[in-house]
Amino acid sequence: MAQDKKTNVLSAGKNKIIHSKALITGNGSGREDQCLFWIALLSLLLINHFRNPLRNVPGPFWAKFSNLWLVYHTRQGRMHRKIIEVHEKYGPLVRLGPHEISTADIDSLRIIYGAGNDFRKSDWYMPWQGNRKWDLFSERNESIHRAQRRLVSHIYSLSNMKKLEPYVDSAILFLLKKLASMEGEKIDVGRWTRLFAYDVIGEITFSKRFGFMDEGIDDGAFTMIDNILQCANWVGHTPWFYYLSIWLAPIIGNRLAITQRQGKLLQISHQNIKDRRERGTDRNDMLEQLFEVQREKPDKLDDICVTSMAASNIFAGSDSTSVSISALLYHTLRNPEVKKKLIDEINEHAAKNNIPHGTVFDLEIINNMPFLQACMYEALRCHPAVGVSLGRVVPPSGLQIGEQFIPGGSGISANAWVIHQNKDVFGEDADKFRPERWMEEPDRVATMTFFDLKTERNFLSFGAGSRYCIGRNVGWLEMSKLMPTLFHDYEVEFCDPCKDTREVAWQFRTCRTYHL
Ligand code: HEM
Repeated sequence: MAQDKKTNVLSAGKNKIIHSKALITGNGSGREDQCLFWIALLSLLLINHFRNPLRNVPGPFWAKFSNLWLVYHTRQGRMHRKIIEVHEKYGPLVRLGPHEISTADIDSLRIIYGAGNDFRKSDWYMPWQGNRKWDLFSERNESIHRAQRRLVSHIYSLSNMKKLEPYVDSAILFLLKKLASMEGEKIDVGRWTRLFAYDVIGEITFSKRFGFMDEGIDDGAFTMIDNILQCANWVGHTPWFYYLSIWLAPIIGNRLAITQRQGKLLQISHQNIKDRRERGTDRNDMLEQLFEVQREKPDKLDDICVTSMAASNIFAGSDSTSVSISALLYHTLRNPEVKKKLIDEINEHAAKNNIPHGTVFDLEIINNMPFLQACMYEALRCHPAVGVSLGRVVPPSGLQIGEQFIPGGSGISANAWVIHQNKDVFGEDADKFRPERWMEEPDRVATMTFFDLKTERNFLSFGAGSRYCIGRNVGWLEMSKLMPTLFHDYEVEFCDPCKDTREVAWQFRTCRTYHL
């Protein structure tokens, strides 16, 4: 059955070629020509539509004919909300493009994102990778990715976090010092969590803060990253446009900001590695650990790979963490009873473990603070930092979801913003911020969390399966150390409740800005 469907798709492709040829060789003139052009175009769209095996999947009208619907809505920066809206309107399977399906079907997630199931990353990731030979995040060949990830995964492991802890502590203490100097002032949370998260990555990767918190300002990196994210977000839906612009670059110049990910970002990473080599350090930072791998396997991890890994830390590790910290603070402050419960737990552990003010909470202590952990899960459930869907390609054998067969080669994706609202998994009050849900009903919690590989499918904030966030432990470490230390030392409040919030989604940055 899968093969038949595949043949259908191929012959639809053939039709496309014949028709476009007919358009080029048409020999009419003037209005007649124009008329023929529109008739041919319309016929082409209709033929493609009626031959498309996905034609019965409901979805927005314009999405049936081209990916422009996706391009338009991702450019608006509100795709994370739009996707919830279309699932509410059309059901668990929604067609977002001629060959693109979004799923909210919980059972299908295990198949799509399950490690070893051959659903490779979609071509949406292609512009992210460009001509890079090593890029964990956007590598679309699963076996290349597996080999690369195996080389470096221990550096991001839970057991390795102990080594990184002192560097995170040092950035937290610096942040507290800065906050003390701003006491009573209005603080832009989005900006300060971002300055903090970048400086942490500097500390743990290069043994040196980038110095953003020192000045309270970045060095232009934020604008560069915003531009890259904004561009990558939409251009990934039209990879042909990316190729075209690269091809035309010698004539029209480099017009797409995403190319800076292969250019300027790698240069920044390269420069930081060079400076760090010259400075030297007795620390065992992440770069040192990458050098260790390189010394052992120089043929597998050359300088380009090390540069790329360090760039990944900067790019994938900073914004995602700052958005998550910001979301955690936001939800905690919006819910006074949660805030009180959290502060009680913090004070209880501080008293029990003799933690003086101005001291960062240890990893062992925070791991034993269940309400803090529950708040973090709940914040990331209600506000996943990654706002776009995680696109995959259906393998040649196809995919059956309920009554619908999805042929090989189709795009399939799920979005954390949609999945996390599922009432069967998260409860009837899934739309509410209620950390307690992570502490009650062990059976339900087992289906919500990702600790058990069999059930990891329903908490998508860190992705899933073989492409699960490699830096999850780093992000978690930062969040879980900062929160209790901050609340232990400061009275934190909204400046002007809810008036000042704004939300925007550019892939790794579905952020909400507000002031404290
Ligand atoms: C709370 C913080 C974080 C969140 C919410 C987050 C989220 C994610 C998500 C959703 C993915 C999967 C993307 C996909 O399937 O396309 C991912 C992948 C990735 N993340 Fe994170 N991330 C966080 C922190 C970090 C940190 C701190 C680092 C680095 C130090 C990092 C590095 C990466 C890398 C390299 C990948 C690609 C992994 C692979 O495909 O093997 N992330 N992250």
